[in-house]
Amino acid sequence: MTVQPKDESAPSRPTAGRANRPQPGQDWSQWPTYDAAALGFRNYWYPVVWEREIGDKPHAVTLLGEKIVLVRKGDVVHALHDRCPHRGVPLSLGRREFPGTVSCPYHGWTFDVTNGKLAAVLTDGPESPICGRVSVKTYPTAQRLGLVWVFVGDDQPHPIEQDIPAELLDNDHVLGGKYDIREGNWRFAAENGFDEGHAKYLHNTALWRLFKVMPAWNKTRVEEHGPWLIRVQDEVHWDAHFPGLGTFTNKRWWKRMPLPDAPGKGKNVNPVIAGLNLPGFVSIRLPGLLRVAYPDFIHYEWYVPVDADRVRYVQIMVRFEDGPKGLLFKAKYLAAIRWLFHGQFTAQDAWMVDVMDAPPEKLYRPDLSITGWRRMIEKAAPTPQPHKAPPNGC
Ligand code: FES
Ligand SMILES: [Fe+2]
Repeated sequence: MTVQPKDESAPSRPTAGRANRPQPGQDWSQWPTYDAAALGFRNYWYPVVWEREIGDKPHAVTLLGEKIVLVRKGDVVHALHDRCPHRGVPLSLGRREFPGTVSCPYHGWTFDVTNGKLAAVLTDGPESPICGRVSVKTYPTAQRLGLVWVFVGDDQPHPIEQDIPAELLDNDHVLGGKYDIREGNWRFAAENGFDEGHAKYLHNTALWRLFKVMPAWNKTRVEEHGPWLIRVQDEVHWDAHFPGLGTFTNKRWWKRMPLPDAPGKGKNVNPVIAGLNLPGFVSIRLPGLLRVAYPDFIHYEWYVPVDADRVRYVQIMVRFEDGPKGLLFKAKYLAAIRWLFHGQFTAQDAWMVDVMDAPPEKLYRPDLSITGWRRMIEKAAPTPQPHKAPPNGC
């Protein structure tokens, strides 16, 4: 699928959650925590890049509106505020003069990547009096699942294991994945992921679904299970007859009939997935992680806020196997799943997130998935803290 070009004559989209609010009940004022979270929730661990991407050169990223530079020292990737305290040049434009340091490209202020302290000033000699008196902010980092994770926040970091689904930490698995930066606020991406109604219509043109039928409509509710909110299907309808109009169905003669009504049911269920006892296929949790479980593999996607208008969309597909079955899955991922699911299928989601313009909004019955997510956030999420610029040296 091709992402449609934007209409150049259209007015630019207002910042998500800050649009006109002409009608009470159509805006987000009843979700004040959510409404204020345009830059996401601080004090969580977020996946950012693949470990293998960080080599000798500093790597710039933006997370929750903060400019951060990732720098490798041996096996460990460190994160610092991407701003030299001298004159504000990005450290990500600099280079590594000495092991374990990054030097600003302008005057060569050189920082220890482990603690952010100014270790040397190349253009002021070894006796530079400012040395040791200036530092840049550092961010806690970790490496899990082949990804670099950064804790963005003001509190002491909690163990990263709290922010990664336990099944990924406790079981052998093989994974494939990709990430990209997409247009739109992270909340729209998250709501799209958990949106009950859209897949049956938007994705019925996706190649990923070419041989698999999707329902025409469902009756659904949401249930909280630990940190997760799960969509549970009470009714699944394969055809819908609209008097005077006709019939809507996703059934086609060449399509296989459907999955059972929960991922742990049916034949050939992976024991790890069966052990999760999920009452529905799709789950979401803070700070913005979606899990779509199939009987034999699970897709996860993280909506990592870049700024108010862009999201880092991190997708992984996991099979809980090792040995030949795991290798076969990896080959299948690289040959097909990466292009069909993590490519064309989720590009349809990216297209909608990019072009939508809400609030105001008028929700319909399946949107209880969206309001359930907002309600959970009002109950469970920390109050978003305004972004404070990291200290500019001390
Ligand atoms: S601006 Fe970085 S060393 Fe001068
Ligand atoms: Fe979708």
